[in-house]
Order: sequence, then structure tokens, then C-alpha cells
Amino acid sequence: MDCQLPGFLLVSRPMIKYLRRLLLSWMVLSIGLSPLAAAPDSQFGTRTESLNPGWKFAAGSHPGAESVDFADSSWTTVRLPHDWAIAGPYEPQGDPHTGKLPWRGEGWYRKQLALPATDAGKRIYLDFDGVMAAPTVHVNGQKAGGWDYGYMSFRVDITPFVRPGALNLIAVHVDTRTHSSRWYPGAGIYRKVQLVVKNPVHIAQWGTFVTTPTVGPDSADVRVQTVIENHTALQTSGALEVELLDPSGKQVTKQRMPLAVPANETQELDGTLSVPKPALWDIRTPRLYRLISRVLVNGKQIDGSETPFGIRTFQFTPNDGFHLNGRRVQLKGVNLHHDQGPLGAAFYVRAMERQLEIMKDMGVNAIRTSHNPPAPELLELCDRMGLVVWDEAFDKWDGTSTRPNDVPILDYNRKQIESLVRRDRNHPSVVVWSAGNEIWNLERLELPDSPGLLRQMVECFKRLDPTRPVVLAHAVPESARTPLDDSLDVVGWNYQRRYSISRETRPNLPIIYSESASAYSTRGHYELPHPAEKTDYPVSLKLTSYDHLAASWADLADTEFALMERDSFVAGEFVWTGFDYIGEPVPLVARGWGSFAKKKISPEEESRISLFGIVDLVGIPKDRFYLYRSFWAPEKPTVHLLPHWNWPERVGAQVPVYVYTNGDSAELFLNGKSLGRKSKDPKSSNVLDRYRLRWEEVAYEPGEVKAVAYAKGAKIGEAVVHTAGAPARLRLTPDRTSLKSTGEDLCYVLVEAADEDGNLCPLAMNRVSLKLSGPAAIAGVGNGDHHFPAEFDAEQVALFYGKAMLIARTQEGPGGTVQIEATSPGLKPAKVSMRSGR
Ligand code: GAL
Repeated sequence: MDCQLPGFLLVSRPMIKYLRRLLLSWMVLSIGLSPLAAAPDSQFGTRTESLNPGWKFAAGSHPGAESVDFADSSWTTVRLPHDWAIAGPYEPQGDPHTGKLPWRGEGWYRKQLALPATDAGKRIYLDFDGVMAAPTVHVNGQKAGGWDYGYMSFRVDITPFVRPGALNLIAVHVDTRTHSSRWYPGAGIYRKVQLVVKNPVHIAQWGTFVTTPTVGPDSADVRVQTVIENHTALQTSGALEVELLDPSGKQVTKQRMPLAVPANETQELDGTLSVPKPALWDIRTPRLYRLISRVLVNGKQIDGSETPFGIRTFQFTPNDGFHLNGRRVQLKGVNLHHDQGPLGAAFYVRAMERQLEIMKDMGVNAIRTSHNPPAPELLELCDRMGLVVWDEAFDKWDGTSTRPNDVPILDYNRKQIESLVRRDRNHPSVVVWSAGNEIWNLERLELPDSPGLLRQMVECFKRLDPTRPVVLAHAVPESARTPLDDSLDVVGWNYQRRYSISRETRPNLPIIYSESASAYSTRGHYELPHPAEKTDYPVSLKLTSYDHLAASWADLADTEFALMERDSFVAGEFVWTGFDYIGEPVPLVARGWGSFAKKKISPEEESRISLFGIVDLVGIPKDRFYLYRSFWAPEKPTVHLLPHWNWPERVGAQVPVYVYTNGDSAELFLNGKSLGRKSKDPKSSNVLDRYRLRWEEVAYEPGEVKAVAYAKGAKIGEAVVHTAGAPARLRLTPDRTSLKSTGEDLCYVLVEAADEDGNLCPLAMNRVSLKLSGPAAIAGVGNGDHHFPAEFDAEQVALFYGKAMLIARTQEGPGGTVQIEATSPGLKPAKVSMRSGR
């Protein structure tokens, strides 16, 4: 063999056994030290372990906290993902635009890491998926690495700093003081961390690149480029074996390529495999192939990896929008911010999966990761669930990054783009790279050589991935008349049909409506003018609650629907936003702004959560959800009626009733009496009458209001709302009753107040106490109120218009029964239980 792998040679077998025993007994004796979290990956001595459990954390500056003998016993024990700021305290006088939470500052994380003696001679890495912000990673007291962008994944090679066969100390310093943000960024190690142990000759991180240069019905070519690293002082020869498995796990083909990696160098291997009759990845059928790569030396496997990928074709066209696998697909997209409501920035796969499930139910087929690289699992979910992704590198370049002053924009951006593209380029869901959002100084050509700067960034994307287009989301219409976009493959335009200028100036440049709508509403809140107040137009048209208000720079859902129906050259829209997010509350007053808007408000009255979402912060749909579902998911019957029917002060006065349905007409009944049938009018000059059905003049009387919807004369469904009696009892509805005891699974429990007959009490604001017993914990609470002057990390929550949410997180271990009890003075308590297990 011309390669000596120190990992195999340094220690003899009996010695390994002895050291292992020694280490284990030491681990048992050490207080607070958990045994290794995962068994080796495989038979070939490499492993990937979650390092999420068992960290010590303290906010603030702690001089010397990187040193091994620093005393951290008084620090809090936390499990990652962790966002220290979401726990509060809520700062009434704080900055509403970033959520009135203490995210700005320093924090430290420390973790003991036991490495077996068999790790001697291995390459040992820490893989971070995202740390907010500017992390510095120390190992055994020495600085080992760090990163300068809070949203990007990074690897730290800790090999030179660790002691195999001993306890090692990892200390991470986090500093958000120089980070600026237009929304709540979170603070801390908010995405997962993994330990990766490899033989010294191995496939590089993100070192496999799979593309499908030709795709036809009879066969597809799958090109596999692989970078192998050799961390030894000797050339290594052997082979790279690549095996393709089809979506059912059956082998399609296998190939070996000889490898000869020079000492301390890398080698790139390039091979093409053929797949007969490929099963395409599509949003309707998200079929995934898997590539298994194995590094073989002397016939022995020394490294390996698995890369899921998809076979599909797509194209953005200038005149006919987006095509996937040869057919036009209208992008029905939403922008999503990275926070997960009451969990803050802490990224849980289940929280993301739930968001995507809710969006898919509404008819969404595309996600824009506004305005930063997502957690990698978001892309895995989109691959699996059939959603296409606009993968975005940055917001305003000078705004939300932590670029050190002495680093030029281009150098900084290139570094982040390289990581982003290498990390994400095998995901079939990703169909466009975004170089940024609304970079005003670039769009106004105020940066030196703005077009050249953008071109160099585009080239950076292209060098690492020639298969996908690069886009930039614009806000400055005049920029369409400058050379700025010469280097773009696709252009994104935010709001107000600004794309029309681009259509004129660059008719061959495909367009995506990267931000649309930006309407406001508060879930459950309806405000009606006093019956005596005179208006020249239907009272509902004043009202946010009837989905009638949009930001001054934006439009209503209906206006955008009409544009998308007409302008089929546009690939589709990405609504701002799918969910409410923490920060950016526009307007600052969350409720009652019809009468309130002009009043000067105190900081205590300000909102701190955005109002743009179609779904509220805790995942409860607003009325608008059903408007989108009606238009975007024609195959699923939707009939939704608003508002609630509890207006005791308005008996005999007007209460407009709206119906959102994908039927073409509906008949409305009040206490059994027909109030007439209305039909959508696709040609109406008022866009509201094209997509919704409105009964503006309903004279309120308590009882039952019902809508029966029809499509082409056939009934498709009905919606009924009753006047609720006084709140009598609480109700708990978990989204799932079978959970995984991984320490990271979540259950979302809807908390509601109901009357004696089980009707939701739409005005109930009762304070509810929550108790959880069993192997789980309350991870967060919330209620969709944009003001929310309370803690997200609490054992109580106020109902907001009848509803609130509790999020429970399982504990790692054998599991058991988790029970949740809700109580509130004067209401019958509620209990619910679920199973947590392996
Ligand atoms: C856009 C911006 C988004 C968000 C939105 C609110 O201009 O790109 O990040 O601020 O406005 O409507």
C-alpha cells in the first residue's frame, strides 16, 4: 500500500481496547458528561455525531471562558438549537423592528467532548449550520476557527487542537454587537452542530456535486464530480466507487474510478453514469435518487457519503414563465423568514416541516428563503415535499451581514456564496440562486462599478454551479434602464408591477415577482365603524380584518392574482409573507388602527411582530389563508366565511360577510333565511369581486350564518359560524399524538376557549395556565397578537381572539406519556396526552 493511514497504524488493538475502557470509566465518573451520542456511522471508522445535547451557556462577556479550567458550573445547561434571546425578557422600551428582545450582546457556550483514543490520526471537524453572530470557536483553550455571517454553515477543522482518548473542551464565543438587522435575528448557536470524524483521506465537505447534463424519457446522464482530500504526507491511491440507487432503493448502476491523491493535496474526480428511464423529480412527484460514494484503498473502504439528488429539467423563459420537466408551472410562492415564532431563531426540523405542510395545504409550490441561506434541512424537506426554492444569499449587502470593515464587499460576498453554492447545489428543489434583496446602493449604481460587482458575484455562483440561473430581487424601477442586470439570467421584482419596466427594457430577461402583496391583517380581529358613522363606501372596505389593507408600497392578494392571471410571462409570485415573523411590525399598531392609526403611541403600545403573514406567528391561519387556498389550490374544495358572529352591540346594524371559496358562487343564509346567491365576476373592474364573494349589507342578528358554495351548479361545500355563548371551557388540540423522544421533536397544541356547545369563543382573551408532565418540556407559547407584551418562554399565555398555541418539545430518552393541562379561572380545564417514544 502506498498510503499509510495513521488512524490504523498508530495504536495497536489491545491498546485501543484498554484506552476505550479507561475512557468509559472516566466518562461515567465525570459529572455532567454524557456518553458519546452516536455509534460510528459505519464499519470504516468515520462517524458523524450530533453535538446538540449538553452545552453550558452564559450570556455576556466572560473573560477566560475559552480556557479548559474555567468554572462554568453556575452556567445554564442547554440543548441546541438554542436562541438565548427568545427567552426574553420582553423589553417594552426595546426596538420594535427587531422584536423587543435582548438579542444584542455576547454569549458563551461550552461543551465537554470525549474523544476515544481511536480518533488519533483521524481528521476531526465541527460542522456548524448557523451561529448568530460572528462566532469564534476555541478548542482546549486555543482559537480553532470561526465565521463572519450568522446565516451560513461552516466547518472548523479541530484536528490540531484535540486530544483523542481524553476530554476536550469546546468553547464558542458569540457576538451580535456588530450585526445589524431589519428583523429579529436571534442570538446563539441556533442551528445544529455535528462532530465529523474522518480518516485522513476523505471526500471533502460538500465535495460531491451531482448534475444531470442530459435528461430524456429513455435515459439521463448523471455527472458526479467528487473532491477527495488527502491529509497525509503520502500519495494515496485507490478508487472511488459511486453507486446510484433509484427512488425505491434499488441499484441502478455502479462505477469505479481510480484515484491518486497527492500528499496533502486534493483530487477532483469526474464521472458520468447513465440512468435508463429516469423517474423525474417534480413538485407533483418528488422522486429522489441517492448517490453512494465510497473511497476504497487496498480494497478497504475508508470513507463514504450519501447524496440524495433529483433528475429534472427546468427553465425560466422570458415569455412563458417557469417550466419544470417541459411544462409551464405557475410559481405560487411565499417568502419565509428564518424564525419559528415562539421558538425564535432556533431551528427544529419539525417546526419547518409544519410550516411547509401548512403552506402546501394552501397551494404553495415555491419558497423564497428571504433573505438569507436557510438551514440545510429546509432544502431536504423541499426536496422531499415537492417545493421549488429560491435560495438567497443576502439582504441589503451593507445591512444585515457582519462583514468586518476591512473586508471588501466582493471578497466577503464571494466567500459566503462559495459556501452556499457548494452546500446547496445538489438539491433538486433549488431552482435559482439569489445574489441579494433590494440592494439600494447597487441598484442606484452608487457602489463603485455596480454592474461589474454584480457580474463578478454572478460569475462566482456560475463557477461553482453552471446549471442554475442567478437572480437579484429589485426594488428600484429605474435600475431596469441601466446596465446593472446585464449579467443576470432572471430578474426578481418586488411589488407594484415594477417588473413592467424591465419587460420593456429587457424583453428577453425572464421575470419572477419576488415579493408580492404585503397586505396586513391580525388573526381574529375585526373592527367595524360605529353604526352611526357615515361612509360613502361599504364599511368593510376600511377594515384590515377583511383583508383590505396593504403597505403603501404594495397591494392586496386579489390585485396580484389578477396580475398573475394576465402576465403569464412572469414565472409567478412570492407573497410577502407566508407566516408572520418577529420584528418589522408595519404599521407599528397591531390592532384597531382604523381609529388608532393617527394617534401617537407610546413604546409600550407598539407591536413587535410583523403583520404581513398569511398565517399568524404561531401557525394559525388568518382569513387570507383561505383566499389564497381558493385561488391556488383549485383541486381542494375551500369554503370559508368571515367574520365571527358575536356582535351583541350591533343588532340590526351592518356586519359585512365575506366568503372565500374556489366555487364560482355561494348562497348566504342567516338563521335559515337566504340572503341571496352571489357569483364571482372574473371581469369585474373591482378585483375584489373576482376572487371573493361579499355581502356588505347584512343586518346583524345573533344565531347562525351559513354559506353554501357551488362550482358549475354543483354544491362543493359549506361553512357555518354560530354566535358563541359565554366561554365555558378550554379545549386542547395537539397536531400529533405520537412523538419521537429525540429531544428535538415538537408538538403544537392549539389552546381554545369554547362555549357550552363547543363553539369557539371568538372574543375570548382569557389567561391560561399550562402544565406539562412527562418526558417533554414547554418550548414556547404564543397567540398571534402582534403586540404580545409577554414572554414566549412561559407556562401561561393569554388567548388572543379565542386561540393560543403551546409548543412542547420532547426529551431525549426512552420516552413515555406526555400530559398537558390547561386551566383558567371560571373555565372548565382541559387535558390532553400524547406518546413520546423512540
Ligand atoms: C420589502 C423587503 C422585505 C420586507 C418587505 C415588507 O421591500 O424586501 O424584506 O421589508 O418590504 O413589505
